[in-house]
Formats: sequence, structure tokens, C-alpha cells
Amino acid sequence: MPSVEVRPVRAEDIGRIVEIEKASFKDAYPRSLLENLMTLSPEGFLVAVWEGRIIGYVSSIVERRHTARLVSVAVHPHYRRRGVAWRLMAELVKTLKNKDVDEVLLEVRESNKAAIRLYKSLGFQPRKILQKYYEDGENALVMSLRLKPPSATENL
Ligand SMILES: CC(C)(COP(=O)(O)OP(=O)(O)OC[C@H]1O[C@@H](n2cnc3c(N)ncnc32)[C@H](O)[C@@H]1OP(=O)(O)O)[C@@H](O)C(=O)NCCC(=O)NCCS
Repeated sequence: MPSVEVRPVRAEDIGRIVEIEKASFKDAYPRSLLENLMTLSPEGFLVAVWEGRIIGYVSSIVERRHTARLVSVAVHPHYRRRGVAWRLMAELVKTLKNKDVDEVLLEVRESNKAAIRLYKSLGFQPRKILQKYYEDGENALVMSLRLKPPSATENL
């Protein structure tokens, strides 16, 4: 979908983001949490727009000074497998690099093969398993992407 535009979120986008969230997750984040993410970290929250309609979003927060966490990425079911999530993630990585972030971390359900393939295609690497991380007892896979090589003094 070459004509997809990726831009930072705006307050008026919330209704459509909630729709996409509900269509994408059985344990969807509530509207209030998505609004908080938009307010807390607007530069880490991007939307994909096609023909004036929001079709996907990605959200992240910078947790410590140089580490960001991916909170959520979702594309409306009608628009999947066209490279939209990849575009959103690639733009996010670019934004985070510009903000001097060294590493991006995420957790993903072990069964979410689509998301795991997406993250691997962007260079994320599996790091560890968090047993029974989700409420329904499923394990999480922790993945990370280094944006800069670790400095020699990092672990001193
Ligand atoms: C995961 C998700 C965001 C992918 O969105 P998308 O726009 O369809 O993904 P893309 O088209 O950009 O796919 C990029 C790559 O990811 C992988 N991928 C994406 N969907 C896949 C699927 N259903 N099966 C296997 N691989 C998949 C592929 O490697 C794909 O590249 P390819 O199409 O060249 O093979 C989307 O399926 C979704 O919203 N799922 C529900 C929410 C979710 O699970 N989010 C992730 C956890 S926070």
C-alpha cells in the first residue's frame, strides 16, 4: 500500500484507534489507557492513514532514558498483510533513534506467530520467556532491537 501515510497521533484519532484495538485483541486495552499513552508519549504513538482513514497504529513509551518499550501495534483486519505494520514499526524505530533511544523492548504472546515474524523481519531478537505472563496463563516472549551498539562502559 504505497499511498499509506504514517503520522503522529492526534487527540481526535482516539475513536478509530479504540475500534482497531477491539477488532485486534481479545483483551483490548481500555480507551482510558490508550488516551493516557497518547498524552504521555505522543511522539511514540503513530497512526497509518489510507484514503483519510486510520487503518493501524503503534504505541511505545520511553521507560528509562535510553530504553523504549513497544506497547502495542495493530492493523485493522481488513488491511493486514500489506506491509502496514512494517511501515508503522519502521517509522517508530526511526523516531526512537532520533530521540537517542539505544534499545527497544517488547513482549509478545508465544502463540502470536504473525507478530513474532513481523518483529524478526525488523531485526528484533528473542531474549527470554516470561512464564505465565498473561492473565490467561500464556507465556510471553521478550524480544529486543538494539539501535546502537552497547558502549564499552554500559555495564560498569
Ligand atoms: C501482527 C499485525 C500487527 C501485523 O500487521 P500487518 O500490517 O498485517 O503486517 P505486515 O503486512 O506489515 O507484515 C510484515 C511481516 O510480518 C509477518 N506477518 C504479518 N502477518 C503475518 C501472518 N498473519 N502470518 C505470518 N506472518 C505474518 C510477515 O513476515 C510479514 O511480511 P510478508 O507479508 O512480506 O511475509 C496484525 O496481524 C495485527 O494487528 N494483529 C492483531 C494485533 C497483534 O497481535 N499485535 C501484535 C501484538 S502487540
